[in-house]
Amino acid sequence: RVTLRWVWRAVYLGAIGSVGYLGYTIYLLRTPSEQLEADPAKKTLVILGTGWGAVSLLKNLDTENYNVIVISPRNYFLFTPLLPSCTTGTIEHRSIMEPIRNILRHKQATVKYYEAEATKVDYAKKVVYINDESEIKGDVMSTEVPFDMLVVGVGAENATFGIPGVREHSCFLKEVGDAQQIRKRIMDCVETASFKDQSPEERKRLLHMVVVGGGPTGVEFAGELQDFFEQDLKKWVPEIVDNFHVTLVEALPNVLPMFSKQLIDYTEKSFKEESITIRTKTMVKNVTDKTIEAEYTKPDGTKEKEIMPYGLLVWATGNALRPVVKDLMSQIPAQKDSRRGLAVNEYLVVNGTENVWAVGDCAIANYAPTAQVASQEGAFLARLFNSLAKTDTINKELASLSEAQAKAAGDQRTQIFDQIKTLQKSLRRVKQIGPFEYSHQGSLAYIGHDKAVADISWLSGNFASGGTITYWFWKSAYVNMCFSWRNRLLVCVDWVKSSLFGRDVSRE
Ligand code: FAD
Ligand code: NAI
Repeated sequence: RVTLRWVWRAVYLGAIGSVGYLGYTIYLLRTPSEQLEADPAKKTLVILGTGWGAVSLLKNLDTENYNVIVISPRNYFLFTPLLPSCTTGTIEHRSIMEPIRNILRHKQATVKYYEAEATKVDYAKKVVYINDESEIKGDVMSTEVPFDMLVVGVGAENATFGIPGVREHSCFLKEVGDAQQIRKRIMDCVETASFKDQSPEERKRLLHMVVVGGGPTGVEFAGELQDFFEQDLKKWVPEIVDNFHVTLVEALPNVLPMFSKQLIDYTEKSFKEESITIRTKTMVKNVTDKTIEAEYTKPDGTKEKEIMPYGLLVWATGNALRPVVKDLMSQIPAQKDSRRGLAVNEYLVVNGTENVWAVGDCAIANYAPTAQVASQEGAFLARLFNSLAKTDTINKELASLSEAQAKAAGDQRTQIFDQIKTLQKSLRRVKQIGPFEYSHQGSLAYIGHDKAVADISWLSGNFASGGTITYWFWKSAYVNMCFSWRNRLLVCVDWVKSSLFGRDVSRE
């Protein structure tokens, strides 16, 4: 009985301790401490973007070493892996957004943030030109920001390959606004299809949801959309049951080219079971307000033209360069042969420059344009910049100690000599930062119907799996990767909410 009492006491104390710790953590999060002011003697480091690359850099950077300025039209970080879930309301978009102000306010030294788009980088003048693109504008809408060091992390825009009608008639899936637009349009198509006296052909067209691009974005969205139909729309709008249909169009012979053959086959089989049509070897050539014109390559190699009527078209065919990146590349002769982005060396320095670095989708470092790569690149740059700053400080200390040593004599001279040796040792350690090496943790994708596929790098081998257990792994991995505890909590609450009450089918 005495032992039991002690066990209970330990449990009580543990619980009180945990609650106290949680409370203290929340208090710290909500009460940022005073920050060091900008120091004109320090170098100005300008960071363009608030995405995976830039935020990972900011998170790991010792900001007291530089005057840091962040420029981005988006004043939040977006956890893109869960964005497809926002298109159907499985997750609310605010749950995967983290305000950049929160992130910056917790840094040791002040970081300036300007909500603006960088329109041009003048490499020779070391200046970034910025524009306020927001709705509300003040007297000053455009200005310039000088830099000593610049990190370009502006990501990429949607590739359309100049196909006519794509920009005008389709939805993309890159930003929060895109997901909101898709969510509205799904419900608009559903309600318009149910409009009185709608003809059967028009009803069929309106309920034909076409996704172009069989990469992970297209596949995940198609899976989410079919889930929405099966789990909610079918119940609340039964009159659409016979006509609602999802088609995934892909130019290559298969979807998910970056996954192993086994998982590609698994995904294609699952889609068939879920009644999602996959149209491979079908290249979209033209888009009008109601139809898609595509070219299908038959097994004998001949081509066949096809017209597909659609209600909703989601365009997910990968990345293209942003104009600001294109313009910067045109100023640097060493970038002449680079087509897909800023070519960088193994320290992520933009080739042909000394003080410009690039991270993420806008940089070409022989890795796929993924969040995983961008965030590892950002963390690497932070280590590099922290080390550069420490090197600078140590060099200054060494210079002053050498001066003092020249003037000193006897014991004092020996003491300074020892100090110099210690500093030289730490200088060697600090300088020992190797080139960037990407460590691939694997690829994960949700494919609908509570199934996911995973190609995981494990013990220097590869482990491929697909199904419901992988789906739970996908869920826990992504919750774990969310930016903050607030995001994690909100995402979990959204999952519980949508599975208990269903997704919201109202159109905002
Ligand atoms: P981004 O994260 O796109 O950030 C770019 C930033 O630059 C933004 O803040 C933007 O506002 C800002 N910006 C844009 N133009 C300018 C300008 N002119 N001046 C200043 N700032 C500017 N990858 C994975 O590894 N796993 C996944 O599961 C995964 N899922 C994804 C799901 C979706 C729907 C999408 C679209 C992508 C997904 N990705 C995933 C890819 C991943 O999101 C990108 O590779 C990653 O966002 C690239 O990071 P980045 O920092 O280069 O760019
Ligand atoms: P993607 O580049 O991976 O795939 C685009 C697909 O569209 C290609 O397969 C291409 O053949 C096809 N396509 C291009 N033009 C076409 C046309 N005219 N008609 C028909 N098909 C056409 O693009 P996605 O999916 O947007 O991904 C971009 C990047 O983000 C990738 O690097 C991807 O790995 C990453 N990402 C990763 C995710 C994950 O790991 N779960 C999720 C989403 C994106």
